[in-house]
Amino acid sequence: MPVDEAGRGAADVEPLRVDDYAELAQSNLSVAVWAYVQGGSGVEWTIAENRAAFDRVVVRPRVLVDVKQCDPATVLLGTPISSPIGVAPMAYHRLVHPDGELATAAAAAEVGGPFVVSIFASQTLADIAKDATGPLWLQLYWLRRRDALVDVIHKAESHGFGALVLTVDAPQVARRLRDVRNAFAVPDRIHAVNLDLPLTASSHRGSPNTSAIERHSREEFDATITWSDLAWLRERTILPLVLKGILTAEDARLAVDHGVDAIVVSNHGGRQLDGAIPSLDALPEVVAAVEDRIPVLLDGGIRCGTDIFKALAVGASTVLIGRPVLWGLAQGGAAGAAAVLRLLRDELVDCMALAGRPTIGDIGPSAVRVRR
Ligand SMILES: Cc1cc2nc3c(=O)[nH]c(=O)nc-3n(C[C@H](O)[C@H](O)[C@H](O)COP(=O)(O)O)c2cc1C
Repeated sequence: MPVDEAGRGAADVEPLRVDDYAELAQSNLSVAVWAYVQGGSGVEWTIAENRAAFDRVVVRPRVLVDVKQCDPATVLLGTPISSPIGVAPMAYHRLVHPDGELATAAAAAEVGGPFVVSIFASQTLADIAKDATGPLWLQLYWLRRRDALVDVIHKAESHGFGALVLTVDAPQVARRLRDVRNAFAVPDRIHAVNLDLPLTASSHRGSPNTSAIERHSREEFDATITWSDLAWLRERTILPLVLKGILTAEDARLAVDHGVDAIVVSNHGGRQLDGAIPSLDALPEVVAAVEDRIPVLLDGGIRCGTDIFKALAVGASTVLIGRPVLWGLAQGGAAGAAAVLRLLRDELVDCMALAGRPTIGDIGPSAVRVRR
């Protein structure tokens, strides 16, 4: 660890970039939990390429624009939000901090976008909703036990959640080699408390050279569902339906045709199909296919405010942040996660000022160019 002249190591230094939080988080987490958070599937090509895609896009700044008051406020699914930044669904926040999803909900309210609570959240929807001041959405994997799905949907509705996010890139959890090597299993002190115990028991059962969460998904996820099953879900909820994990124009068109309310362009942060197209690279074809009929969100590889600016310029209406939120949470609970999200929001506002685009509406395709 580098030490400066005053003898301070990285752990004593005020983090100035989102990546600084990764270092701090790693030192607070066990090897297996850090690997679960950071890792992806296969050779982690898609993780690396999610980042590289942002590096290929350059900003075209305009000058002599009044940028004294830059405003990142926008509207998402009819709800005004103070910035186009939300939190991606991630399982088991209590793995990285005892305050878990409650802390993340408090942090997400700082930037205004939705906190998408995973179906594998480690705190109850009731508790998360009790003090949350920002929008909450619930993410679903399609479980074979449809009664459990209906039960969790009704809980979300009764606690004021604003949308359902069905993850469609995970008919099974992919082979994540770090988790296989570590024989990763969810520790017994942490549970997916919004589901009943028998449904999640096998994700706690470790065995050599096996990821328990991969094995659990093969037992409990319904890999047979197709577009026609969306009608079943629609009939059971009053909430808007968002599909997460769309990467092609074909599927974006099908989503619109099936009455979906929004889509998230995502490759699951490189945790599902290794070799899948980086999310920023997939965004233009999806945006073109959707033709402004529904909002298009994006996640994957966002590590600074300028990345958010680039995603908005290419056509995203809001971005979701994954791992960096867990880094902040691991380092400092609600305050740490809020610091990460505030940093991203402040960097976005700085980028808007320096690029001569004072409102979200000013950030259009002419604000960026893809470098060859
Ligand atoms: C530890 C961890 C757990 C995750 N759990 C879920 C989940 O339960 N449901 C889901 O749809 N996506 C899940 N994801 C994927 C994220 O929602 C998101 O797509 C991804 O993290 C975005 O990439 P980024 O981490 O580079 O920002 C998870 C990601 C991480 C890092």
